[in-house]
Amino acid sequence: MLAIFTETENIHTKQFLNTYKIMGYLNLDTEKTSSTAKELNILLADYHLYYQKLRNFHWNVVGHNFFDLHIKFEEMYDDAKVKIDEIAERILTLRYQPTSNFTDYLKMSNIEESSAGSKDLDMVKILLDDHGKLLKQMRKVVETADKADDEGTIDMVGGFIGHIEKVSWMLDAWSMKRGDNHPEV
Ligand SMILES: [Fe+2]
Repeated sequence: MLAIFTETENIHTKQFLNTYKIMGYLNLDTEKTSSTAKELNILLADYHLYYQKLRNFHWNVVGHNFFDLHIKFEEMYDDAKVKIDEIAERILTLRYQPTSNFTDYLKMSNIEESSAGSKDLDMVKILLDDHGKLLKQMRKVVETADKADDEGTIDMVGGFIGHIEKVSWMLDAWSMKRGDNHPEV
């Protein structure tokens, strides 16, 4: 029978297939990216709980700050909705399955649900606390992605970190008293 490939070509094809099995088309170590996908799935769960809490607060805020916070919370949940999709699609890009059910989100999430009866200032404080949890999980994702040389995930989540830090500053400034200035450096 006539050989289609020479022996050297066969060795190269075998080497390519072996590397492909380990690295995939992303040329990343799939074992290491599975750890990143796990951390991203926790972040996805966190974002779902955070998103629904923002809707809760958008609907249920009352008092003199209604117009400010009603609009701000809508802006924030619109942003969270976009990020939810980006996180899920990054997990798919890494060739793993994003978690899709609320039963699982509730088990996995670092963020807890809130009642509908919180006062406006408490709503802001609860959200600032949630931001701390989101930032902690995002830094975990970055740390895990770094071990896998996964710049794509680091770049995406790095952007999220900067954004949520900025929103946190704004919420914190909103809740501060006049004259409570930040320290000079
Ligand atoms: Fe609305």
